[in-house]
Amino acid sequence: KYPPSIDICGTQYPTDEVTNITPAIISKIPIRLHTQPAHPLSNLRSLIESHWPDFAHLSSFSPLVTPFKNFDELSFPKDHPGRSVTDSYYINKDLMLRTHTSAHEVEVFREGQSKWLLTADVYRRDEIDASHYPVFHQVEGAKLYESNSTGMKQLEQDNLRLEQYLAKSNIVIEDVANVSETNPVQERHDAVQAEMVARNLKLELNSLILTLFGGAREGAEGEEPLRVRWIEAYFPFTSPSFEVEVFFRGKWLEILGCGVIRQATLDTAGVQNKIGWAFGLGLERIAMILYSIPDIRLFWSTDPRFLSQFKEGEISTFKSYSKYPSCFKDVSFWLPENSGFHENDFCDLVRDVAGDLVEDIDAFVHPKTKRGSLCYRINYCSMDRSLSNEETNEIHKTVVSRLTNEFGVEIR
Ligand code: PHE
Repeated sequence: KYPPSIDICGTQYPTDEVTNITPAIISKIPIRLHTQPAHPLSNLRSLIESHWPDFAHLSSFSPLVTPFKNFDELSFPKDHPGRSVTDSYYINKDLMLRTHTSAHEVEVFREGQSKWLLTADVYRRDEIDASHYPVFHQVEGAKLYESNSTGMKQLEQDNLRLEQYLAKSNIVIEDVANVSETNPVQERHDAVQAEMVARNLKLELNSLILTLFGGAREGAEGEEPLRVRWIEAYFPFTSPSFEVEVFFRGKWLEILGCGVIRQATLDTAGVQNKIGWAFGLGLERIAMILYSIPDIRLFWSTDPRFLSQFKEGEISTFKSYSKYPSCFKDVSFWLPENSGFHENDFCDLVRDVAGDLVEDIDAFVHPKTKRGSLCYRINYCSMDRSLSNEETNEIHKTVVSRLTNEFGVEIR
């Protein structure tokens, strides 16, 4: 299926048995939406950067990383599902597209940075719908304190200052996520220090959330107050760990993961006598809430009706322009036995043929049949023009024929 080598942004890379990166994905790599002036994702990055003016602001790291950097260096176990070819994009077995900005933690700490933000594009194989896209953007942030008495005095002062600041605000924060048996302080940490660091992490992120959502909601009369909640989480490279969710349109949306950095990560980076926290936040989810952007594909639109609505340094409400009609096409097929078929393979195939013309894919499975029979409904819809039935038919035909050729399925 792949030639011996593939071109990514002007460089040739050898392929092998794990190669699964597609042309549709490769074409996204040079775009770097988070650095395009006035783009909502770039505006949001700037807003977050100005919330922490004394942090280093980094945004030019290549998305091609070794699995070692993306996983091993961060203590991911060898059998972690994120490593599988169904979940991540591989150029070959030694090179992949980063699945999170945490992949750069060790190298940034090794450079000697102790307060930093890093913004980048990240890649995960996933289903297709209005809030999932295989390329999205994260901001990683971290802060380290000296674990001596000077450092701890500083930490205490910072916590007091942030507590006073937050006491004056009127954001509703639910926090039931505490250090516990299932979310422990690390063995190598002093419990008092670790709890102070976790406290600092929560205060810093709550004040960021206030900066991001507080302003946008001023004058939004009659609206429900913004609700934020902290819940216990697990990451291999932090402990204790937390997730933050925001209540939006009747649902809790996860916007970030964070925690107290595992000492092993700092050891690897050659950092001594320091303790600190890190977080990783998804820009798209937050931008969709702040700007009222209804569909994650819109971020990739080059339509002036989209782009002209945004100005550098401003958060404004997006006004939806009329949606073009959808065209639904079904495809049902039998799977050959032991096909190893994975839904993400199907989504990548459709995305490769139809690009952003597919809005979402619905799956109907028939578990009663003996052989695996699958049925998908593909919603074809352009964001900037009306698709003709002929064009949609052509695209769908290509999907069906590639499905037959590449997966050996039998169309019903
Ligand atoms: N990298 C994690 C993710 O993408 C988020 C995270 C970052 C968690 C830093 C803890 C610390 O889900």
